Amino acid sequence: MSVLEAKELTKIYGTAKGVSVKALDKFSMSIKEGEFVGIMGPSGSGKTTLLNILATIDSPSSGEILLNGENPHRLSPDKLAIFRRKNLGFIFQEFNLLDTLSVRENIILPLVLEEFKSNEIQEKLDEISSILNIKGILDKRTYEISGGQQQRTACARAMINKPAIILADEPTGNLDSKASFDLMSSLEDINREKKATIVMVTHDAFAASFCNRIIMIKDGKFFLEIVKNSTRQVFFKEILDSLSLLGGGYNENI
Ligand SMILES: Nc1ncnc2c1ncn2[C@@H]1O[C@H](COP(=O)(O)OP(=O)(O)OP(=O)(O)O)[C@@H](O)[C@H]1O
Ligand SMILES: [Mg+2]
Repeated sequence: MSVLEAKELTKIYGTAKGVSVKALDKFSMSIKEGEFVGIMGPSGSGKTTLLNILATIDSPSSGEILLNGENPHRLSPDKLAIFRRKNLGFIFQEFNLLDTLSVRENIILPLVLEEFKSNEIQEKLDEISSILNIKGILDKRTYEISGGQQQRTACARAMINKPAIILADEPTGNLDSKASFDLMSSLEDINREKKATIVMVTHDAFAASFCNRIIMIKDGKFFLEIVKNSTRQVFFKEILDSLSLLGGGYNENI
């Protein structure tokens, strides 16, 4: 069953100089429950635009998205806020944690907003913090922990209420290679064990190799997709090969 359908999304931005930019051009995709999908493409190809539309932060110029069969862009602002809290989890490049709160308080915030009971909150917190290996830092403030720990905290917060879909924009963008590996391994575990559906934008072929399917975008259009059917190492090579077809600065990095 599709959790998410994007149908012929087009996004045209008007600019101050009166010139318009077509950031997405009839882009379609379908994401099934339990998939871990990576979105790749050159700089300016429309990845963040796509994620912002999926996240309902922005709306398309034409086309539509369906999340569990519902078009969130048609909801009233009040209903949209509830829909977002229930269905979507976000992980950004900047960790977006609240530094006046502890790690624990940051993670449980979505559940507190939903007025969950405290024993339920504790149960969910225990489960997610052990998967993400952050049990030992729950009482710390966010400025007392490393970038990798901050990003794993942000992941825990995005996932604690089991959203229908988790959207991540360059989650490893500010992390070193060890922290990236730890984060991607955690996302892989959560996808496999908890059947979380994840859509992740990334520039990084290594991070992408943890996904099960990669969709490549060029000039706002679907370019190609590849599916993992053996090991992560083999998939990594296949991703590099596909990126060299994509151009747009990727060739020089290989
Ligand atoms: N708010 C905006 N107003 C006008 N143009 C925009 C706006 N946001 C993005 N664009 C343009 O739309 C196109 C797609 O931008 P987008 O941010 O989606 O690219 P991206 O694939 O995320 O790039 P990157 O890899 O550099 O993050 C670019 O040409 C960009 O300049
Ligand atoms: Mg971007």
